[in-house]
Amino acid sequence: MRLSDCHNIDDFRKLARQRLPWPVFDYIDGAADDELTKVRNTAAFADCDLVPDVLAGVADIDTSVTIMGRKSALPLILSPTALQRIFHWQGERAVARAAEKFGLWFGISSLGTVSIEEIGELVSSPKLFQLYVHKDQGLNRSMIERCQAAKFDAIALTVDTIVSGKRERCARSGFTSPPKFTPSSALSYAIKPRWALDYVFREKFRLPQLDGHVSKGAGEAVSIASYFNTMLDPSMNWQTAETIRKDWGGTFCLKGVMSVADARRAVEIGADAIMVSNHGGRQLDGSRSPFDQLREITDAVGGEIEIICDGGVRRGTHVMKALAAGADCASGGRLYLYALAAAGQAGVERALEIMQDEITRGMKLMGVKSVAELNRDRLRWR
Ligand code: FNR
Ligand code: LAC
Repeated sequence: MRLSDCHNIDDFRKLARQRLPWPVFDYIDGAADDELTKVRNTAAFADCDLVPDVLAGVADIDTSVTIMGRKSALPLILSPTALQRIFHWQGERAVARAAEKFGLWFGISSLGTVSIEEIGELVSSPKLFQLYVHKDQGLNRSMIERCQAAKFDAIALTVDTIVSGKRERCARSGFTSPPKFTPSSALSYAIKPRWALDYVFREKFRLPQLDGHVSKGAGEAVSIASYFNTMLDPSMNWQTAETIRKDWGGTFCLKGVMSVADARRAVEIGADAIMVSNHGGRQLDGSRSPFDQLREITDAVGGEIEIICDGGVRRGTHVMKALAAGADCASGGRLYLYALAAAGQAGVERALEIMQDEITRGMKLMGVKSVAELNRDRLRWR
């Protein structure tokens, strides 16, 4: 299977599986406990149907939205994800360049493998920084200041990771950051020599957002679960979020809000946006899917805060359904991560081309000329 054989996001998943050592593939693809939430995140989109209008004159349509104060060519954000240079040696640089080419927002993680400063200089397209609140207050302050200096457009504070989810695939594979070659895991890496050579001979693994603060950033191998459970601050609360919003002073998003009460509270502390998200099913298994929960939230706070539906998106029609249900924008991680792992920047570009094509085609078939025309009238639940 080659890149030219990839015609949808699931094809990239298959290619990524061929190319990656299985512990790395399972880190991307896996989720918590029985992975029920991960499955539901995508399945939820199939529980409703689109109702098209015809004869709408759709020769020229506009797929763009303005979200968090910046224009995006598609109603789709590339969610922040950790450790990208482990998936492909080009890592965040590939995703940033592809996002810029397609005019999209993208996010880098606190556990990113390319620095805030480098990303700030690399692209002028809209970018957000995903903040994990660490016990080390100095580190939190330093990341915020570095984002200010690098002129990031927004900070998204992730609030669904107060402890690590129970990721059983990672427990079985012993996946660590950086990957550790033990006698028992060596074979899984050796049978993917192309990945292994890139990993060993390209730029050394680093977590540059943590520089100067965390020994883990300097290369100590640690599981993601133990990183979360030892380094992040489980006492984080609404006061913490409000203080971070003020210290940052720019566009502020809460990532991982699921309840109506929390969405209201996000409005009260002056957040500009919320990502309705369960972290791609990687945290609380059994948590409701963002798409299922979207109507409750948009009914309660729509118009008062921007609402981003994050998780499970694999198709242009999923994006359209999220918008029709009331979201201002959709967002996704694995939809571009499989492609990154499969073929670096060329892979991400092809994945975005497919999403762009599916959204454009879908809007024309729906008879809408702008995303604002996608509303509840156009959806029916079965
Ligand atoms: C993530 N996600 C994530 N979120 C976050 O706030 N900080 C992070 O560092 C990461 N890292 C990360 C790594 C990997 C491999 C995945 C798959 C996900 C969650 C991510 O931002 C997003 O919420 C989910 O990916 C959405 O679900 P889908 O689109 O992957 O189904
Ligand atoms: C994850 C992180 C790092 O989901 O947020 O693996």
